[in-house]
Amino acid sequence: MELLDGYDMADLRVGMIASHSALDVADGAVEEGFRTLAVCQEGRDKPYVKYFRSCRTNDGRIVSGMIDEVMMLKKFKDVLGPDNQEALRKKNVLFVPNRSFTSYCGIDAVEDEFAVPLVGSRNLLRSEERGDKKDYYWILEKAGLPFPEQIEPEEIDQLVMVKLPHAVKTLERGFFTASCSEEYYQKAETLLRQGVIDQDGIDLARIERYIVGPVFNLDFFYSPLTEMIELIGIDWRFETSLDGHVRLPAPQQLTLNESQINPEYTVCGHNSATLRESLLEKAFELAEKYVAASKEYYAPGIIGPFCLQTCVDKDLNFFIYDVAPRIGGGTNVHMAVGHPYGNALWRTNMSTGRRLTREIRFALEQDKLEKIIT
Ligand SMILES: Nc1ncnc2c1ncn2[C@@H]1O[C@H](COP(=O)(O)OP(=O)(O)O)[C@@H](O)[C@H]1O
Ligand SMILES: [Mg+2]
Repeated sequence: MELLDGYDMADLRVGMIASHSALDVADGAVEEGFRTLAVCQEGRDKPYVKYFRSCRTNDGRIVSGMIDEVMMLKKFKDVLGPDNQEALRKKNVLFVPNRSFTSYCGIDAVEDEFAVPLVGSRNLLRSEERGDKKDYYWILEKAGLPFPEQIEPEEIDQLVMVKLPHAVKTLERGFFTASCSEEYYQKAETLLRQGVIDQDGIDLARIERYIVGPVFNLDFFYSPLTEMIELIGIDWRFETSLDGHVRLPAPQQLTLNESQINPEYTVCGHNSATLRESLLEKAFELAEKYVAASKEYYAPGIIGPFCLQTCVDKDLNFFIYDVAPRIGGGTNVHMAVGHPYGNALWRTNMSTGRRLTREIRFALEQDKLEKIIT
């Protein structure tokens, strides 16, 4: 908040790591009248530097694109360098945390070293680190929310999901499924041998009940200004190589060799969805409980976008298997066009990025920036 005293509020920029959901945030920011700044890493900068670069008229009106300025770095984590932080503050940047920010910079540095105002709840970002003492499962339990129960390796008597990091693609998943203890040990051994997972990963793995049913990522927004919850959209994800597997007939799946037969779960795209209306009531109840618990255990609680990642079982029960306490990774699916729920609520195209930056605008107009910045 002290840093904001030095800011020129008439010349704010919305900044973010150029990855994950950056395009949605930048698109929304431009719609809401802000300039944008993308923190790029060399070698993965083209979409931002070249292809979605903004073009404006002399008087500032947007003609095309949405990335106004770029900070080019060798590595994303260089954004933590004091000079780079200083440069962001000089440009009056309000920074929107996404998953790439926390993954590449590290949660400790995000909490203790990044002296730039964040739009969102900085302390809650840690709850996403699976295995931490007060991780999202802990919050879900406190909130009385349904999540897939944990199962010990020796007690596997139904299909389970084993969650651990990929050994080589360190920011990706080395997830696998098993329906009994024997299959668990045998698959773990195969994947260890293939170098997909490592022993450290297995020791810390979370084994939980596999929910057989469709996936809905509920992209919610909590406004600290109105104290209201909004459902902006719903997405679900394309994952490799799982989605390739399900497009093969069963007999062909069974012919896959050892290196192909266990699907990986790396997100590579998104799609849009809606819920049957009778499930909406339950969906909002999940969000209400999550918001209340976040306020109680992680004051000031959730600020802005969050994503409840759910599966729905055959009896139409929701199970939350992951919570993103920040903008979700699937919101590009409603970038610029919005989503049926967000649009219906706001009577205009409303994506998560736009809703987030509209909140910044409202906070500025009401002189309540302190409610959305940490
Ligand atoms: N308990 C579960 N039952 C069924 N599918 C699950 C379960 N947990 C995770 N998944 C599947 O695995 C994917 C990734 O899980 P998630 O916990 O969100 O991992 P990450 O932390 O990598 O985002 C989900 O998109 C979903 O398809
Ligand atoms: Mg997830």
